Amino acid sequence: MELARSIASYRDWRRRQGGPVGFVPTMGYLHDGHLALVRRARAENAAVAVSIFVNPTQFGPLEDLERYPRDLERDLSLLEKVGADLVFHPSTGEMYPADFGSWVQVEGVTKKLEGASRPGHFRGMATVVAKLLGIAAPAKAYFGQKDAQQLVVIRRMVRDLNMDLEIVAVPTVREPDGLAMSSRNSYLDPRERQAAPVLFQALSGAGALFARGERDAGAIRREMARILQKEPLAIVEYLSVSHPDTLEELEEIEGRALVSLAVKLGGTRLIDNISLGG
Ligand code: PAJ
Repeated sequence: MELARSIASYRDWRRRQGGPVGFVPTMGYLHDGHLALVRRARAENAAVAVSIFVNPTQFGPLEDLERYPRDLERDLSLLEKVGADLVFHPSTGEMYPADFGSWVQVEGVTKKLEGASRPGHFRGMATVVAKLLGIAAPAKAYFGQKDAQQLVVIRRMVRDLNMDLEIVAVPTVREPDGLAMSSRNSYLDPRERQAAPVLFQALSGAGALFARGERDAGAIRREMARILQKEPLAIVEYLSVSHPDTLEELEEIEGRALVSLAVKLGGTRLIDNISLGG
């Protein structure tokens, strides 16, 4: 496995690849969710590149950029084991030189859910993903369903800007108690960690109602609220039943729906989601 710390050294590696490259962008502090993306890329491509870059422009001024967890040595050894060929770990200075001034603003779908709670987040995320895809030049790029709105935004950007690659969505990997794996889970203290499965319990409650034939989105939101109320540590930021492509809130579920939520446990903000209707 090679390590490229500059754009030029990534491009040098890329030129040496004969076949299609699969690309997995990450912010590091890797867990089994990230590794599922890498394994899928490994199975589908001649070569696999993984980026590790904590992108400052997608963090708000009051968010956790400074304390975002980092462990490059551990990440490299995990990636070596799952068969990545190259790790791209650029400096912030090279990604964002002092006179940097071009941004990718995806309209519409960035206004809702995470976009409403985290102004500027998707502008920074879309910009860095556009930059990383431009550098990596992959045939396919892999993203987790865990960040469902991020996937919607990226698909829209790729379509609108005619980027020539396939976006592959990979199912959410969970802990045995249902908690979706996340680098931010490391912030939870033992009490918060014990409370954290309530997110997936609420989503599972929504799924069970839907399976019994409920199609009223309001009833599904209320069921999630009822389950979350049982956990005093959980402060709900939003509970949503939306259209999976437009992210518009639904009244009635006709085909598919994205059920998503953001919940604070102490100082840590967690998100999770499930899809209904296949
Ligand atoms: P990060 O949070 O490190 O996640 C990297 C990728 O791993 C994303 O596509 C995310 O959806 C996926 N992922 C995270 N947890 C997962 C889980 N439990 N199961 C499956 N996939 C999971 O998302 C980002 O970084 C950044 O926004 C990035 C796209 C790298 C741009 O900076």
